[in-house]
Amino acid sequence: MEKNSGFATKQIHVGKLEIPGIAPLATPIFQTSTFEFETTAQGASRFALEEPGYIYTRLGNPNTTKIGQKLAALENGEAGMAMASGMGAVTTVLWTALHAGDHLLADDALYGCTFSFFTHGLTRYGVEVTLVDFSDIEQVKANIRPNTKVFYFESPTNPNLKLVDIAAISKLAHETCPEAKVIVDNTFATPYLQKPLDLGADVVIHSATKYLNGHGDVIAGMAVGSAEFITECTLFGLKDMTGAVLGPFEAYLIDRGLKTLDIRVKKHCENAMKVAEFLESHPAVARVIYPGLASHPQHELAKKQMHGGFGGIVTFELNTTRERSAEFVNSLKLCTIAVSLGDAETLIEHPATMTHSTYTPEALEEAGIGESMLRLSVGLEDAEDIIADLKEQLDKIK
Ligand SMILES: Cc1ncc(COP(=O)(O)O)c(C=O)c1O
Repeated sequence: MEKNSGFATKQIHVGKLEIPGIAPLATPIFQTSTFEFETTAQGASRFALEEPGYIYTRLGNPNTTKIGQKLAALENGEAGMAMASGMGAVTTVLWTALHAGDHLLADDALYGCTFSFFTHGLTRYGVEVTLVDFSDIEQVKANIRPNTKVFYFESPTNPNLKLVDIAAISKLAHETCPEAKVIVDNTFATPYLQKPLDLGADVVIHSATKYLNGHGDVIAGMAVGSAEFITECTLFGLKDMTGAVLGPFEAYLIDRGLKTLDIRVKKHCENAMKVAEFLESHPAVARVIYPGLASHPQHELAKKQMHGGFGGIVTFELNTTRERSAEFVNSLKLCTIAVSLGDAETLIEHPATMTHSTYTPEALEEAGIGESMLRLSVGLEDAEDIIADLKEQLDKIK
């Protein structure tokens, strides 16, 4: 494969394993916990990192290596790695990047368990944590400290689809804190729509459970960054701190999902745009948040830093009480009530009581996550059917 191959070619071919004499098209699953050494000397030199080669699956396995290389190619990064969950990726990367006494400056709208890890977890170990609105660069500037070592955000944010100007924050961070890392959770956009490393960020994190896998049958996480940092995350963060190792079978499924990432994300985006436009036109809907709509306050930024679409998530609020909103969700037939996102099925959830129930009511308000917001992960069904399901129940709201 050529180095300058296109996205689709890379998502299919990068990391292909050559197995002489067999040549399987799909990578076999290396379902093994450990790898044999020919001699004790060979084992010792592998542990000393003098000789390349596999040792033990917690330290590496051909299936996880392959998807690490593939995602690195798709994100335009030097190296990538896989972990047992998105939270495994968040914790592995941050345990590697931070020490007691360091300051973490993060956006206030975060996936609920990331919020919990930052505010209840890292603070127990002497890391200072400040959450501010990263869409306002002045707030970020005003909260930088001499010990700020990580700038962390999602874009679009979960669940309120706020955007963060990745290039502007990366420039500010690197000019004021040369040692600091800018870490972006790119789960909602995927590398097909947005490449944070090209915009100046240092590390990208994914819940690979979502679009990278795309079929709702795996929990996984991934990270991409410089070869030096990813090696540190592998040999310290993952090996010693979290042990959040992805199994070979799950890595195989992620590899399979990645082969169709671009066409799936394109269809998610097309469907989401149609659903967002429909919702915006319905009198029972009070507010629709979708970066592709001209009504999104950061639509211009979305057009600048996202390419090929605006993602598959639509967030909205109804013109009715919370109880009636819940009734609306309960009555939907095609849209399924479930957390997670990026799957073939359209999923709907209530962030304030589900994915973001780790937030206090005050923190929700501060982060702009409305108590009545509904998050819709628009699936790959026919858009007309998703809209018909929503319309049937919306029309009943007086
Ligand atoms: C933006 C984002 N980051 C991280 C995570 C955590 O991923 P996982 O559930 O795979 O641990 C999630 C999960 O919903 C998420 O939405």
